[in-house]
Amino acid sequence: MPILQTKKLTKKFGGISALNNLSIEFEAGKITGVIGPNGSGKSTLVNVLTGLLPITSGRIIIADSTSLKKIAAHEMPSFGITRTFQEVRLLEQMTVLDNILVVITKRNVIGALFEKHKTHYLKIAENVLERLGLWAKRGELAVNLSYGQRKLLEIARVLAMTEAESTDVKIFFFDEPFAGLFPEMVKLVVSVMKDLKQKGKTLVLIEHNMDLIRELSDKVIVMDSGELLAEGLPEEVLSRRDVIEAYLGE
Ligand SMILES: Nc1ncnc2c1ncn2[C@@H]1O[C@H](COP(=O)(O)OP(=O)(O)O)[C@@H](O)[C@H]1O
Ligand SMILES: [Mg+2]
Repeated sequence: MPILQTKKLTKKFGGISALNNLSIEFEAGKITGVIGPNGSGKSTLVNVLTGLLPITSGRIIIADSTSLKKIAAHEMPSFGITRTFQEVRLLEQMTVLDNILVVITKRNVIGALFEKHKTHYLKIAENVLERLGLWAKRGELAVNLSYGQRKLLEIARVLAMTEAESTDVKIFFFDEPFAGLFPEMVKLVVSVMKDLKQKGKTLVLIEHNMDLIRELSDKVIVMDSGELLAEGLPEEVLSRRDVIEAYLGE
């Protein structure tokens, strides 16, 4: 069953159609890999599906046919959607720990004043930072982290938000989470993603590394110039000539 679908979705920036009549589906509880050359509209797809950008035309449909023309970014959690950004977005002059605490307490500032809640939030923060190998860095300012550590911290933030949120996050978008990570870090992120799937979550993974796409994806969607070029099982899709050519044509 699709948990999220688009119908003839179009997003224009001036004269450019970043998404052009795109009709796709994301299956509940599966990992869908989204691939395609640079500029094919992958990040734009995430931006409109998470409500960061308004759409030009078409429809976005969540779960049971509720028509949603536009989800505002602040409404994302209430629809059970969260995401990472291709460009890491951190609070640079705050510590690693505070970067986590800010996202998990900001919807409940008053509650955060109570010791009980602080301990609760601290536990969540400690948990996710340990998970991603960042606990030793908790006192470091975000600006001083390496590129890979920054990406891990962003993923830690998404996980922390998931654990702290009273609403249940169901869909996770990862926009090139592995880019620039060392192999050990890649392994960590792979295990986080497999874990989320195990817990029944729906994942959308934008990634250029085809080994990772093969390892993680149940289904692959190939985009080219804002349109759907191909979709299907990873092995099928990745051996198609038109898909290979779209990549070689870069
Ligand atoms: N905020 C924006 N303003 C104007 N053009 C944009 C914007 N975001 C993306 N685009 C354009 O839309 C197209 C798709 O970009 P993008 O979604 O970032 O592709 P991808 O993530 O597949 O590399 C490109 O032509 C890009 O220049
Ligand atoms: Mg992109």
